[in-house]
Amino acid sequence: MAEPFLIGEAMTGGYGGADILHSCTIAVEKGEIAVIVGPNGAGKSTAMKAVFGMLRLREGRVRLAGEDITALSPQDRVAKGMGFVPQTHNIFGSMTVEENLEMGAFIRRDDFADTMTQVYDLFPILKQKRHQPAGELSGGQRQQVAVGRALMTQPSVLMLDEPTAGVSPIVMDELFDRIIEVARSGISILMVEQNARQALDIADKGYVLVQGANRFTDTGRALLADPEVRRSFLGG
Ligand SMILES: Nc1ncnc2c1ncn2[C@@H]1O[C@H](COP(=O)(O)OP(=O)(O)OP(=O)(O)O)[C@@H](O)[C@H]1O
Ligand SMILES: [Mg+2]
Repeated sequence: MAEPFLIGEAMTGGYGGADILHSCTIAVEKGEIAVIVGPNGAGKSTAMKAVFGMLRLREGRVRLAGEDITALSPQDRVAKGMGFVPQTHNIFGSMTVEENLEMGAFIRRDDFADTMTQVYDLFPILKQKRHQPAGELSGGQRQQVAVGRALMTQPSVLMLDEPTAGVSPIVMDELFDRIIEVARSGISILMVEQNARQALDIADKGYVLVQGANRFTDTGRALLADPEVRRSFLGG
């Protein structure tokens, strides 16, 4: 089988103390949506940080489009086409929406006006509020700013850590629709989600992590249908 577009393979490591990840493997195919779910503290954010290069791995590799990028810094990974929206502190609250998007384009030396137009097409409310400090926006709108900021580098893979945290079910559905739209444009999506059921419903591939290790891996559909996954991780 061909290699996935992005893969963190058999990742083992932590923050300097005991290992948090134990031979954890996470991957996403081109233009597909992969979702990581699991209990609090399972290491979902840590796995994302490892794939993005914010964690030194003791073992394992990260490859993007067949290239080994394990040794690259996060900034170098951005230059290679990775975009990352962390779980917290993912926007600059005192800066305007538009300034946040401009910051997102930090590595670009070319004209990014077209990309900004695309972000505003995807999230029209952001265009309306472009001169407002991002910190004044609603939770769902701030998440749109965070996603939009990451899109400004025109990534080939977008990594989202709990993009729907703290938003209402309606706003969550809306955000998921936009994320599907991004995936359809050919951008791979690797995301962590607390709203496991809804996220697996839109996932091509799903990963259930427990204590830093892969517990279940399958298509989103198959995980949703698995009685054990349902009982243990989806509330029945
Ligand atoms: N910066 C850090 N330094 C040391 N340990 C950390 C750090 N960040 C997380 N941990 C530890 O790593 C483990 C996994 O945390 P992580 O944040 O990856 O879990 P998570 O699955 O994302 O949880 P949540 O659902 O609450 O976001 C936890 O035991 C946590 O205490
Ligand atoms: Mg987390």
